[in-house]
Amino acid sequence: GTPARTSAATVTLTVDGQPVTVPAGTSVMRAAAELGIDIPKLCATDSVEPIGSCRLCMVEIEGRRGTPASCTTPAEDGMQVHTQTDQLAKLRRGVMELYISDHPLDCLTCAANGDCRLQDMAGAVGLRDVRYAPGANHHQPRQNGEANPRYIPQDETNPYFTYDPAKCIACYRCVRACEEVQGTFALTLERRGFEARISTGAADFLSSDCVSCGACVQACPTATLQEKAVIDQGTPDRAVLTTCAYCGVGCTFRAE
Ligand code: FES
Repeated sequence: GTPARTSAATVTLTVDGQPVTVPAGTSVMRAAAELGIDIPKLCATDSVEPIGSCRLCMVEIEGRRGTPASCTTPAEDGMQVHTQTDQLAKLRRGVMELYISDHPLDCLTCAANGDCRLQDMAGAVGLRDVRYAPGANHHQPRQNGEANPRYIPQDETNPYFTYDPAKCIACYRCVRACEEVQGTFALTLERRGFEARISTGAADFLSSDCVSCGACVQACPTATLQEKAVIDQGTPDRAVLTTCAYCGVGCTFRAE
């Protein structure tokens, strides 16, 4: 018989004045990428479904109010999208300022220096100054001679990677990588606001449901989850080590 015809519906929109035609259902972010327009982002990756948590990728769409996240907004026929306006630049700097104000400022000694999405995005949006006082230093057990109530110890129990909650920006990438890439449900996000961070629900990584596949480590945009080999040896070429306890395939899941 004749194979059924598949109708590949497409939509045509403009992004920053340039027309682009994409399959229906494509996100505005991806449509922009087709034109070589890189919209700043922290939480979206090609590997997992976008959930629009970081808000850095907001755009303006003519005829619509607000600034929707481009990673979760489907492209529509006739849409006129703007990704680079003064208002967007200001909003994105404001978002990055908030992230940086609660992040350890130890870039120069951080294992992710030069390979950190937070650092990249701070540069991309032109963040120069942070107006807010830095948040509590989660790395110090004591501050000003007293116990630091916001001290959060690092978790080094996993043999392959470390977990530093102070560097977590609650982007959800690791949680989704665990679920969607690995099919394990070892991670959740706990608490809210400044206290938000990922959790295994167990006392530590070693005693959790984590199978050490490394998907979360590859998904992490900062040094929150960091391979121990990288900490020891640096990242000369973004080498990916397989850390899976169950197979020797050498899976190269990447955040990008
Ligand atoms: Fe779209 Fe984070 S990249 S909200």
